Amino acid sequence: MTAVGDKALAALFRNARTHNGWAEKHVSDTTLIELYDLLKMAPTSANCSPGRFVFVRSAEGKERLKPALSYGNVEKTMSAPVTVIASIDHEFYEKLPSLFPHADARSWFTSSPAVAEETAFRNATLQAVYLILAARALGLDTGAMSGFDNAKVDAAFFAGTTWKSNFLINLGYGNPSKLYQRLPRLAFYEACRFE
Ligand SMILES: Cc1cc2nc3c(=O)[nH]c(=O)nc-3n(C[C@H](O)[C@H](O)[C@H](O)COP(=O)(O)O)c2cc1C
Repeated sequence: MTAVGDKALAALFRNARTHNGWAEKHVSDTTLIELYDLLKMAPTSANCSPGRFVFVRSAEGKERLKPALSYGNVEKTMSAPVTVIASIDHEFYEKLPSLFPHADARSWFTSSPAVAEETAFRNATLQAVYLILAARALGLDTGAMSGFDNAKVDAAFFAGTTWKSNFLINLGYGNPSKLYQRLPRLAFYEACRFE
């Protein structure tokens, strides 16, 4: 007996794939807002919520992204209905007085840049993963990519801000004919142990 049933487990994990091609089907603002409203509810440490998400949809936005992409990521990104720049607000702690109001959590991070960096990266990455799972739950397909130049994306989208790119996620409705072969996964005892 599971909390969500086999259909959901298949959609989220067992049958979900990383997509490289896309159907010509629009992803609405309502869907993207619903996506954020799901992912924002998943946990981050001290509720710090450092993940920021830029939904690149316009031809102009895609052209700005293009010079930063590795060659193999250009076509799938330019044809995706949406490319998310999963990003990190490096001054995430400025929101803590409202996100974690019962303690002076802001000072935990302003007093230690190293802890702030580690916390920002860990939790923003978690939130990007939550986005992938929330997208799958809403019937969207995803394709994560780290093959791009972060500095170029930051210059093109985040100059003069405290945001920086982490990785990219294409979003849309996948074209199964463009899937790569499913790769093996580590078995339980290769990746886990009991203590
Ligand atoms: C963080 C991250 C970065 C990735 N970067 C790229 C990339 O730059 N280009 C690419 O074609 N695939 C990229 N992938 C896709 C992986 O190779 C793919 O998710 C993995 O092989 C599993 O495929 P499957 O989900 O279809 O089983 C990336 C995946 C993740 C999670």
